[in-house]
Amino acid sequence: MPSVAPKASIADLIGYKPALAGAPGHARVVRLHVNEGALGPSPKAMEAMQTVATRIHQYPAVDASGLAVAIGRKHGIDPQRIVLGCGSDELIQVLCLAYVEPGDEVIHTQYGFLLFPMAAKIAGGVPVSAPDDGYTVSVDAILERVTPRTKLVFLANPNNPTGTYLAHDEVRRLRAGLPDRVVLVLDAAYAEYVQRNDYTAGIELVEETDNTVMLRTFSKAFGMAGLRLGWAYCPKSMADTLYSIRPPYGVNIPALAAGVAAIEDQAFQDATVAHNARWMPWLQAQFNALGLEPMPTVANFLMVRFPTEPARNADAARQFLAARGILVREMAGYGAPEFIRLSVGSEDDNHLLVDTLRDFLNGASS
Ligand SMILES: Cc1ncc(COP(=O)(O)O)c(C=O)c1O
Repeated sequence: MPSVAPKASIADLIGYKPALAGAPGHARVVRLHVNEGALGPSPKAMEAMQTVATRIHQYPAVDASGLAVAIGRKHGIDPQRIVLGCGSDELIQVLCLAYVEPGDEVIHTQYGFLLFPMAAKIAGGVPVSAPDDGYTVSVDAILERVTPRTKLVFLANPNNPTGTYLAHDEVRRLRAGLPDRVVLVLDAAYAEYVQRNDYTAGIELVEETDNTVMLRTFSKAFGMAGLRLGWAYCPKSMADTLYSIRPPYGVNIPALAAGVAAIEDQAFQDATVAHNARWMPWLQAQFNALGLEPMPTVANFLMVRFPTEPARNADAARQFLAARGILVREMAGYGAPEFIRLSVGSEDDNHLLVDTLRDFLNGASS
């Protein structure tokens, strides 16, 4: 027995490992398991990183740096209210640390991003799960779970892992139904991919209220997951609070430089969205033709339901694909073991995935 024990609220988190299983023996691994961008990084972002290589002995900027100004320009928002983070993961944790007292309740959704309940526990809070309606977030279920101890509500919109979304009038209904003392966090990590007239990422709600935060990331549509860069758009007083407690140098110089180049690279963003709009329906049609059940999605990933018989189920499929060098995400940890989640890859990756799944369903050996 070690002499020191971690605090009780995190005891059941120890040993958690993110899904990064490898595919040993494969020179080229097809990574469809963590919802990364399909086109690699923006060439302009790579170039910008090189130009700051001679400055990496310096500490990075801590406040509304050039990147916050560039983000502000793109979205027409105040850079002073943008908080940068080492991925939006860090901002999820910092939000909990700033606003959740021990014992406070943090509502997340049934098939929601796993980091939400983790961050709540790390802060000493109590995660409360609101059931989905089918595989879509239910505003009523969230509102029914509000108690005097509720402090924060996390809503990923679009949602990971389901790929579904809430229209803006539903998000507004949620905000209107929550007490003012409850912080609503709209995590719009996949907003760039959504092509629906009734969707908004949440900027206007942040501006109209003093208790709503929107999170965004460079890890998905901007192709920069490895640099770890996310941002929060907040009411000014919340931005000041988050800035005062987050690690001051959490965002590194290469990430800041690449972020400015990526957000200004409209051609790359357009290509990313066009690629997704072309290949997502293609993948869904191929899965249907194979007798699988792809779920509807507005993001760059989707859930696919597999048959239940052991030789053809989701877990067997995931293992078969991994043995062929293709990584997809198992859903047992989310309580949906009959599904796998996978993201749109490059044209070659998408063909390889479908061909490999056909082999699997035809009973080929891996
Ligand atoms: C809903 C959601 N929020 C946040 C993140 C984390 O993004 P980042 O890489 O910026 O930490 C992810 C990554 O998968 C996500 O799916």
